[in-house]
Amino acid sequence: MTTKTEAAAALAGDTDGKAEDTLRITDSRTGETYEIPIVDGAIRSLDLRQIKTSEDDFGLLAYDPAFMNTASCRSAITYLDGDLGVLEYRGYPIEQLAEHSTYLEVAYLLVHGELPTAAELATWTHEIKTHTFVHENVKSFIQGFRHDAHPMGMLLGSIGALSTFYPDANQIHDPANRAIQTIRLIAKMPTLAAFSYRHNMGQPYVYPDNDLEYAGNFLGMLYKMTELKYQPDPRLAKALDVLFILHADHEQNCSTSAVRAIGSSGVDPYSAIAGGIAALYGPSHGGANEEVVRMLLRIGSKENIPDFIAGVKAGRERLMGFGHRVYKNYDPRARIIKKACDDVFEVTGVNPLLDIATELEKIALGEEYFVSRSLYPNVDFYSGLIYQALGMPMAMFPVMFAIGRTSGWIAQWLEMVQDSEQKIARPRQIYTGERNRDYVPLAERG
Ligand code: SDX
Repeated sequence: MTTKTEAAAALAGDTDGKAEDTLRITDSRTGETYEIPIVDGAIRSLDLRQIKTSEDDFGLLAYDPAFMNTASCRSAITYLDGDLGVLEYRGYPIEQLAEHSTYLEVAYLLVHGELPTAAELATWTHEIKTHTFVHENVKSFIQGFRHDAHPMGMLLGSIGALSTFYPDANQIHDPANRAIQTIRLIAKMPTLAAFSYRHNMGQPYVYPDNDLEYAGNFLGMLYKMTELKYQPDPRLAKALDVLFILHADHEQNCSTSAVRAIGSSGVDPYSAIAGGIAALYGPSHGGANEEVVRMLLRIGSKENIPDFIAGVKAGRERLMGFGHRVYKNYDPRARIIKKACDDVFEVTGVNPLLDIATELEKIALGEEYFVSRSLYPNVDFYSGLIYQALGMPMAMFPVMFAIGRTSGWIAQWLEMVQDSEQKIARPRQIYTGERNRDYVPLAERG
């Protein structure tokens, strides 16, 4: 007869039937003891289902609202150490990629797992540059939005609409199809983002200029007016490219988890990534960079910071751009962005809100409230100051986050689609409602 340990070990794929590391659990309800295999620092939640009080008992569930302690997948894309403030894409430290790489090279790295050779990078760049245009009908689709529609709402809608322009994108098990959709999404996200901005401004759309590099082309689609050829300031284009790198991926964050969950149903990547944009839109996630600048404007001056901090401690305010589910240390991206501020402000002039932000950070990091909760600046704390200095309205800040994150969403979607352990995401619940109630006719309801 197979013991519970051997059965569990077999479940964990430990073929010799004996798990090296195990968790021993004794159920006080029955006195039964179980040995659950520990693999890669985790137990399989499904192994808990053998813990029953009777044969018809469903078995034990793991209850984890907001997935505070649940690994949803195995991934080789991004490594985070929240305590040490470490972030690596495919094993390369973010600091080195921000200093030496470009966004398109990083996008290749995330998608393919290795840094490209010169020939691979040239092909990748050419493919992306030749897919930056969108179908002309997309323009009339965007024209349908109110003039003051939030650009994240327009981006969310237009990316979802792209799934109708590429109906074959639902052939998700065809590697060649996945490859062309990957290229299209990375190539077209800036175009749709820029069209959304121009729609808000009431200005004509600017078509991509494939003589320009990725970030410079985006600036051109935002700001080109009557000049024949838009020439982006190389320092601003470089700073923007670094911001795209820093936002490219961040393991199983809210929006990436949404992309994976939606994609697990077998839908096309445009629809899955539209869901990612929706999740990123929220103020607790990518929408925070917009909320940070609104917060700094509301604070108004350094003299008002103590009152604001008091409001945070009293629970009336939230210090937007601070805190993180994983980082219990300084977000390494925030450190790099703070440095990038200097490069941008050299060109644009210092954003007057920078003083308030740096003073706010200094005071907060000295306050027990923040230190005891390990609340440090995250990626959103300084990024909005750069976007504002680049002349972007606050509503465009989360859109900038979405452009950078597209390569990460795609890489994670590709990994999920090819992961034999994955199937449609369908969590369980603990039911707390009523049971077996008889219908009450309308006339008899009190
Ligand atoms: C991103 O997951 C990712 O990787 C995300 C991201 C990515 O690249 O994809 O890094 C991008 O989304 C960065 C986060 C951007 N959001 C913000 O800056 C919004 C402000 N921050 C928070 O709302 C909050 O810190 C979260 C949402 C980021 C994290 O929240 P958690 O992990 O659920 O922590 P929590 O809300 O349970 O807070 C723990 C405690 C609470 O106090 P107590 O109940 O213990 O008294 O810390 C407090 C919170 O009230 N707290 C804050 C705070 N963040 C947490 N108090 C004041 N200001 C804050 N910003």
